[in-house]
Amino acid sequence: MYASTMNVLVIGSGGREHALCWALSKSGGMGDLFCAPGNAGMEEIARCVQVDWKNADAIIGFCRDHDIGLVVIGPEAPLAEGLSDALRSAGLRAVGPSKEAARLESSKAFMREICEETKVPSPRNASFKESKQAKSYVEANFQEGEKIVVKADGLAAGKGVVIAENHGEAYEAIDEMFDGKFGEASACVLIEECLEGEEASLFYLCDGEVALAFGNGRDYKRIGEGNVGANTGGMGAYSPVGELTEEVCAQVEEKIVNPVLRSMAARGTPFTGFLYAGVMLTPDGVKLLEFNVRMGDPETQVVLPRLRSNFLELLLTSCSGAGALRDVSLEWDPRNCITVVMASQGYPGEYEKGARIEGIESASSMKDVHVFHAGTARDGDGEIIATGGRVLAVSGLGESLAPARSRAYEALGHIKWSGGIYRRDIGT
Ligand SMILES: Nc1ncnc2c1ncn2[C@@H]1O[C@H](COP(=O)(O)OP(=O)(O)O)[C@@H](O)[C@H]1O
Ligand SMILES: [Mg+2]
Repeated sequence: MYASTMNVLVIGSGGREHALCWALSKSGGMGDLFCAPGNAGMEEIARCVQVDWKNADAIIGFCRDHDIGLVVIGPEAPLAEGLSDALRSAGLRAVGPSKEAARLESSKAFMREICEETKVPSPRNASFKESKQAKSYVEANFQEGEKIVVKADGLAAGKGVVIAENHGEAYEAIDEMFDGKFGEASACVLIEECLEGEEASLFYLCDGEVALAFGNGRDYKRIGEGNVGANTGGMGAYSPVGELTEEVCAQVEEKIVNPVLRSMAARGTPFTGFLYAGVMLTPDGVKLLEFNVRMGDPETQVVLPRLRSNFLELLLTSCSGAGALRDVSLEWDPRNCITVVMASQGYPGEYEKGARIEGIESASSMKDVHVFHAGTARDGDGEIIATGGRVLAVSGLGESLAPARSRAYEALGHIKWSGGIYRRDIGT
């Protein structure tokens, strides 16, 4: 498809970006791979460069100097701040939505507005700019004893949602948010009906018009086994999700993703890049909890190990015009993949940095195992050390969930890091 090779820049430094780099590095047609800022794991397959994404001109300059043909933006923050717009204005190709289209994630009130307009199955909800009205809405619409979901409108690093057990707890959450708990992100607050059911996430690669299904997964947000304790960025995931039958996936496409894509295009802000639909499988059918405008972390670490198609080619197609993905079909490894996140003891609170980690090579040399790095660096002796909260994601493939699980945990057993913790119940 492309005669020569192409140089690619990935923005980000987590396990998701390591997985993106890994899938790119084994794509035919790859030239040089760069990552800004990257981590110790990515250094083995990419050149990590210290160019700050907050400085769009610096990124553009870097792309020109290194003949970058494609920029892949991993996290939500640069998308919400318009990095892809800046790159496109400079004539560069970027995977990721415009700032305006990224509002599907960066404003939950905007997202619910679009869903209302397009009749996407959703929980009852309303959004407010001040506390008194929010509380009256709770008072009028929720029975005492009924759970109430209170959400900050903007990006809050996964901490902006409270499931209140009663009116009192809801009022407290509302006050905290309007008192500026999340700054600008909670200047607007949403109140939602609390849906019951199992959660799942579905991913799509979008070209502005077509949403190409790009796998699905289920993640584990709580720090503790049995889903207790503090919320984290994600302690594990698996793919595919058994409950996401062809029929359920078709419903998500027809009732949720396609109408929203059409509406975004009609507004003149077509959505391109990865769209992540977080859904609840309720007794009355599937309903939308949220959109993210990028791949998930650690979900990427269970989706990409299953992809057999050429990832680079696919990403290039997604940014070559509305409708370009229409006739693309993907090839997947039919096996299951599970990833277990190793985090620093104390995470998501305070934790120690700088401890050495051994045995990563021996774990990753196992068949059907991939070790993706997040918060790692090399110390003065060139040894891997832990520098972040989430540090490694260890992924294993297997014919079903159980062998995938055994493989991932067996690989974890090779890793020697006294300050590392992980959940033992991922995929059970
Ligand atoms: N309306 C809802 N009903 C039930 N649970 C919800 C609802 N909204 C959010 N949640 C729970 O809170 C979690 C976080 O909410 P979400 O909307 O995904 O925000 P974010 O990921 O930005 O924190 C969800 O994964 C889900 O477990
Ligand atoms: Mg979420």
